Amino acid sequence: MLIVIPGVLDAKQLQQVRSLLETGHFVDGRLSAGKTAKRVKNNEELHTSASQMERLNKLVMGTLLQNPTYQAAAMPCRVATPYYARYTQGMSYGDHVDDPVMGPPGGQYRSDVSTTVFLNQPDQYQGGELVIRTSFGDQSLKLSAGDAVAYPSSSLHHINEVTSGERLVAVTWTQSMLRDPQQRELLFQLYQARESLLQSQPDADATTQIDHVYVNLVRMWSEI
Ligand code: NI
Repeated sequence: MLIVIPGVLDAKQLQQVRSLLETGHFVDGRLSAGKTAKRVKNNEELHTSASQMERLNKLVMGTLLQNPTYQAAAMPCRVATPYYARYTQGMSYGDHVDDPVMGPPGGQYRSDVSTTVFLNQPDQYQGGELVIRTSFGDQSLKLSAGDAVAYPSSSLHHINEVTSGERLVAVTWTQSMLRDPQQRELLFQLYQARESLLQSQPDADATTQIDHVYVNLVRMWSEI
C-alpha cells in the first residue's frame, strides 16, 4: 500500500526547512547506505552532526508524527531521525529495498514503513521521480512540496536520475505496531470508513460498531 499524504508541511515550514538546508553541510549519501544499496546510491545527505539537525527534525518529524493520516497509515511505534537528501544533476538512486534494521546498537528498530517528504516543488528539477514497484505495477511519484508518501520498506524502489535542477527530500523509517503490510492496509481502509461515518452519521449504531471493531482490531493486532 502506498499512501500519499498531502500538505504535511505548510509553506512557512517549508521555507524554514529550506533555509536551514541551504547553509547545511552535505556529504556523500553512500556513507549511510547498507552494503548493497551503496552500489546504486548516488546522492548527498545533510551531515548527521549538522547544527541544523535538531531544528529540522523538530519541524519535519514533529509535524509528520502529528499528522492523523500518517498515524493511521503507519501506526508508528518507533520512528527514525530523518535523512535530508539532495539530488543534483546526474544523481540517482538505483533499485533497492531499504535496510531491514536501522539505528545505532541499543537504539535499533525495524523498518516497516518508508516515508519521503518532498521539500521543493516538482518544477524545480527534471527527472528525480520516486518509482515504487507495487503489485499493480510501477508507481511514479513526484509530489508537491510539503506532500509525503508512505510505503512498505520491503518494496523495491528507485529514484530516477535528476537531469537538471535540485531535488530535496526528507526520508524516514518507521517501525510499525503492525508488522504485516496487509494488516496495516486493512486497518487503514477501516479507519477511512470510520472517519467518513463519524463525519456523516456520528450517532448511527453502525458508526459505533465500526468504531469498536477498528479499535479492537488495533488492540488484537498491534505489538509494542
Ligand atoms: Ni530507499
